[in-house]
Amino acid sequence: MKIVKGGIAFFDSGIGGLTVLSACRKYLPNELFYYYGDNHHAPYGNLPPKKIRRYVRKAFALFARLKVRAAVVACNTATAVCVEELRKRYSFPIIGTEPAVFTAAKMGGKTFILTTRATYESERFKGLCEEAEKRYPCANLIPIPCDQLAGAIEKHLGESEYDFTSLLPRGKPDAVVLGCTHYIYIKEEVQRFYSCSVVDGNEGIAFRLRKVLEKAEKTTTKLQKIGRGRETQPHLTTRGKRRTFFTLKRENCSKNTTKNSEIVFLGKCKVVNKTQYEQMFVE
Ligand code: DGL
Repeated sequence: MKIVKGGIAFFDSGIGGLTVLSACRKYLPNELFYYYGDNHHAPYGNLPPKKIRRYVRKAFALFARLKVRAAVVACNTATAVCVEELRKRYSFPIIGTEPAVFTAAKMGGKTFILTTRATYESERFKGLCEEAEKRYPCANLIPIPCDQLAGAIEKHLGESEYDFTSLLPRGKPDAVVLGCTHYIYIKEEVQRFYSCSVVDGNEGIAFRLRKVLEKAEKTTTKLQKIGRGRETQPHLTTRGKRRTFFTLKRENCSKNTTKNSEIVFLGKCKVVNKTQYEQMFVE
């Protein structure tokens, strides 16, 4: 099966990033997307950073071969562990996912920031909380690792009798930040459980991605005008105009076409992700 190059890639440890993809697709309805969810190794949250890096690198090597125009690390854990390393290695824009700590800090009050263990322990996340507290001294940020939650969502989502709230920390916060893309699936349960506002960063990522693509598009147009578009940015093609093809093993990909946007599911767990996406997000 041939896969058209030059799309926009999404990566997550499993199904969590599908929530990000869904948000981005609303802003970019005519794009070609790739989704790589590594459900086979999920959850990442309790793995050592070395292993997480190894798994993420594998997905990004594939993205590079597909000459992606941009990639979204739709995973707070992978962002916390290795987004900087990825940015150094690849020339395409890479958008990370980080807990919406600043949004919450601005609101003030006692805020629970729910994350995976790996995010919680990362220097990047600690730095982010410190910066937010410096900028908004009234903020009372309480990061809490939820060791079982992402794994349970990955495994039990859709089982009506499963009580995800039993895995939430107790307390009475004024706001909660969902610092893991898996948690977004249970946003309403979290809201009901704490009776407070619950924040996630998906809209922000979609907005950022659109900006990045617009900027890249402008650069390509400029380069094409001066006759250098091809050599300098060969992967910045406009869909439908100049397509290049790339052959992958048949068992490594599956395709979903809805309206004008196209989603190519990649990796070992493509069928799981495709099914999940269709059940949860496709109208
Ligand atoms: N969805 C991921 C995140 O945003 C990772 C969850 C996991 O695999 O533990 O952190």
